[in-house]
Amino acid sequence: MQDSKLYVEENKQRFLNELIDLLKIPSVSADSAFKDNVLLTADEVAKRLKEAGCDTVEICPTDGYPIVYAEKIIDKNLPTVLVYGHYDVQPADPIELWHSPPFEPVIKKTDFHPEGAIFARGACDDKGQMYMHVKAMEFMTSTNQLPCNVKFMIEGEEEVGSVNLGTYVKNNHEKLKNDVILISDTGMIANDVPSITTGLRGLSYVEVEVTGPNRDLHSGLYGGAVANPINILTQMIASLHDEDNHITIPGFYDNVEELSLEERAEMAKAPFSLDAYKKALDMEDVHGEKGYTTNERNSIRPTLDVNGIWGGYIGEGAKTVIASKAYAKISMRLVPNQDWENITELFKTHFESIAPKSVKVKVTPHHGGQGYVTPIDSLGYQAASKAYETTFGKKPIPQRSGGSIPIVSLFEQELKSKTILMGFGLDSDAIHSPNEHFGVWNYLKGIETIPYFYKYFTELFK
Ligand code: BES
Ligand code: MN
Ligand code: MN
Repeated sequence: MQDSKLYVEENKQRFLNELIDLLKIPSVSADSAFKDNVLLTADEVAKRLKEAGCDTVEICPTDGYPIVYAEKIIDKNLPTVLVYGHYDVQPADPIELWHSPPFEPVIKKTDFHPEGAIFARGACDDKGQMYMHVKAMEFMTSTNQLPCNVKFMIEGEEEVGSVNLGTYVKNNHEKLKNDVILISDTGMIANDVPSITTGLRGLSYVEVEVTGPNRDLHSGLYGGAVANPINILTQMIASLHDEDNHITIPGFYDNVEELSLEERAEMAKAPFSLDAYKKALDMEDVHGEKGYTTNERNSIRPTLDVNGIWGGYIGEGAKTVIASKAYAKISMRLVPNQDWENITELFKTHFESIAPKSVKVKVTPHHGGQGYVTPIDSLGYQAASKAYETTFGKKPIPQRSGGSIPIVSLFEQELKSKTILMGFGLDSDAIHSPNEHFGVWNYLKGIETIPYFYKYFTELFK
């Protein structure tokens, strides 16, 4: 194969400029104020896919934001790789915590990225990682060495639960037919410790509302005699974990897959420094389920976290008031075999059952999705492993991630193919946080590595 490293070096500046232009469009899917920009981003992605050598490019409308679909079919007898990614990004707020505006990308050096990193919302999650695939495609088509068929499916609603992608996938089995699905929307251990993500956690996301009295009350006249929904809500939330940090919802752990001691020992071989972890987050100590290590707690174990909580008076100064209502948004990260709809049901039943008579409780499910694990003996995994070995000079370590891409399990269910997660981000890249960034080295290394996946997958497929 003609050297992708050389091609990347020669086109480095252009590759960076193109990504920077894409990052300037604020494609925030959660906030309808950004609608025009989300749509504009879809057009832009479609244009870039065409330029990269795709023959068919479509902007497929959905009930929400469109799906950009593109393909290049060179021979029906050759395998087909389906690339998935997302062009939408998380909201940028809290904006005041950004050191440079979120949609005005700048390149700055960091401890983990001595060669510089691009700072912008979406730099790593997922515009930067998605665009690596577009540029890898450009390399393969322009040097005449695309070894197999390629399909791209880039959506604009991942950050809001991929609500319309499921329908699209269900209605387009034939069109999306493939031999492997390739995604770069995860991370790796470190730039000198390549890894392949072999698992994602599932998710159940709910909102709860606790109502006490029918109106806000004077906290002196009524305080002590009526239920304060904020007091009650916080007590209810606190009771969801016991002293060992186990989740107390009956049945919650019923289907949790327990890993063998051998599997856990294998996991523990991945390089990890607890001291560096604590230092990076400015914490004296870590916190989590008794009996499990930090890396186990955030990958093979299910969790429950409050993502937001509000109610009562939060303006300037003090106001003596007992609020009528209190709210919280709660997410549960799930592991394989836990069914998200079942868990949502268990949560609802339990949460309603622990509420005292003095309040009313409403639980509203948001979105969710199943977890995913992929074996390391599949053709796709082997091809990815060889690709990393070629460009990193090291065999990658299989590693389960704590994050979720709920659509991946649906891909397997509907399209019957395995997903390979070749992520090039680092945990320190601050995805979803202020000052999100993506290493310039990582971006270019991704473009260099991806073509080898195509090459090895096609060879192994024969
Ligand atoms: N790309 C992330 C998921 C991710 C990041 C997985 C890093 C593994 C490592 C994705 O965009 C995301 O943020 N997913 C959401 C779930 C979604 C339903 C909003 C998540 O994990 O919170
Ligand atoms: Mn993502
Ligand atoms: Mn995300």
